[in-house]
Amino acid sequence: MSFKMSIDDCKIVSLPKFLDARGNLSFVQNTTHIPFSIKRVYWVYDVPGGECRGGHAYIQNEEFIIALSGSMDVVVDDGEQKKTCSLNRSYFGLYIPKGLWREMNNFSTNAVALELASTEYNPSDYVTNYNEFLKLKKDGKI
Ligand code: TYD
Repeated sequence: MSFKMSIDDCKIVSLPKFLDARGNLSFVQNTTHIPFSIKRVYWVYDVPGGECRGGHAYIQNEEFIIALSGSMDVVVDDGEQKKTCSLNRSYFGLYIPKGLWREMNNFSTNAVALELASTEYNPSDYVTNYNEFLKLKKDGKI
């Protein structure tokens, strides 16, 4: 029997914040806040109103998403249940394990989503067809 990740394995993580009259500072580091070693960092920005990003699952890649600026919603789906996680503060991060369908929408003006990833970019790690995702999930392959 395989271990299937569920939406309950997605967690909002509170990051340290150093409030300062000169400007605030937050940080994130391996193992303390994120249960993987960061191999890649990318960011999504200049998202036109109403657009949706993501819309796929990863077979192996785990992610940690921070709304560095503005806000956005991340919808995670394990094939049985969905939940929407709203990110609107730069001192919260969302951990998403592998094997979940995820979409990002409801981006505010000037939103910047920073995404920390556990693997290098690999197009063959993507599942982009939702029905295929459901089948892989049902068969315990993702
Ligand atoms: P994609 O992952 O499809 O974006 P999203 O899931 O947000 O809709 O990536 C969009 C494009 O960027 C695609 O052509 C692949 C490229 N890309 C990289 O080259 N390296 C990366 O690390 C990422 C995340 C994307």
